[in-house]
Amino acid sequence: MARDNPPPLALITGGTSGIGFAVAQRLAQEGYDLIITGRDAERGVQAQDALLQSSPTHCQFISLANDDWSGYQALTKPLEGRGLALLVASAATGLQAHLIDTPSSELDRLLRVNLLAPHHLVRTLLPHFESPSSVILISSDAGVDGEQSLGAYSVTKSALNMMGRMLALDLAPRGIRVNTVCPGDTRPGMRYLLRPGEIERSPDDYLSWPLPPRGRLGEASDTAELVAFLASERADFIVGSVMLVDGGSRAGRPDPSTRNQAH
Ligand SMILES: NC(=O)c1ccc[n+]([C@@H]2O[C@H](COP(=O)([O-])OP(=O)(O)OC[C@H]3O[C@@H](n4cnc5c(N)ncnc54)[C@H](OP(=O)(O)O)[C@@H]3O)[C@@H](O)[C@H]2O)c1
Repeated sequence: MARDNPPPLALITGGTSGIGFAVAQRLAQEGYDLIITGRDAERGVQAQDALLQSSPTHCQFISLANDDWSGYQALTKPLEGRGLALLVASAATGLQAHLIDTPSSELDRLLRVNLLAPHHLVRTLLPHFESPSSVILISSDAGVDGEQSLGAYSVTKSALNMMGRMLALDLAPRGIRVNTVCPGDTRPGMRYLLRPGEIERSPDDYLSWPLPPRGRLGEASDTAELVAFLASERADFIVGSVMLVDGGSRAGRPDPSTRNQAH
């Protein structure tokens, strides 16, 4: 008797929080089975339970520290006998400091988590990708137009944007479309975008953010919507793109007299 095809499988790093979690929710609506990663096991299990409750989906949490290469092989276990339709690399960390004030050790840490980790991830998972399949790197508007107050973070995200384009060239012939998404300020903001010495970021931080021309801050669902589109067959000809989802923040310099006015 012929068996129905299983649902497509998506792996989302940083899928336990913020934008990654919203992406997982959106993909569950699209009928994907999910693997989500993060470091904090309690947060991971909570996210997994919430996803299982809200959608009839299969969801597995795997604890993974981006910069611990030894943990990556565990991700391939659930892929045995099953192809990967989509990888979304969302896990990242940040630092609020000028680049000149950033010790090399901190730049090294950010590069490992934000840039080398997705590279290592794609290479580790390469034998498991279906054809067609898709890789979506979650970068930042700070990687398009650098922010002095986020110097090292901007450097890592700018390099990630180029990495997405180079991987797109390498992987398109294998049927794997690679694209990069650059969110602007998105509530409630990155948990680990910290000042030196800080452990946790106040969830109220975003209240002081200037509004983009669109007149509101981003929601994680704004990015999730773009990810769902880019992963779909409707985006079959979109390869190696670097797309902003920022309410117009990086479109240009607005007239200062109209800034912060909602439209
Ligand atoms: N929110 C924004 O305003 C904004 C703007 C532009 C770009 N972005 C980008 O969007 C992505 C998601 O940001 P977010 O705001 O959703 O962040 P978030 O809420 O802080 O979530 C970060 C996720 O990544 C995981 N993570 C963080 N550091 C990790 C590490 N070293 N190893 C493994 N996992 C790690 C976290 O899990 P644990 O806590 O368990 O480690 C969590 O699941 C990032 O790539 C970020 O650069 C965000």
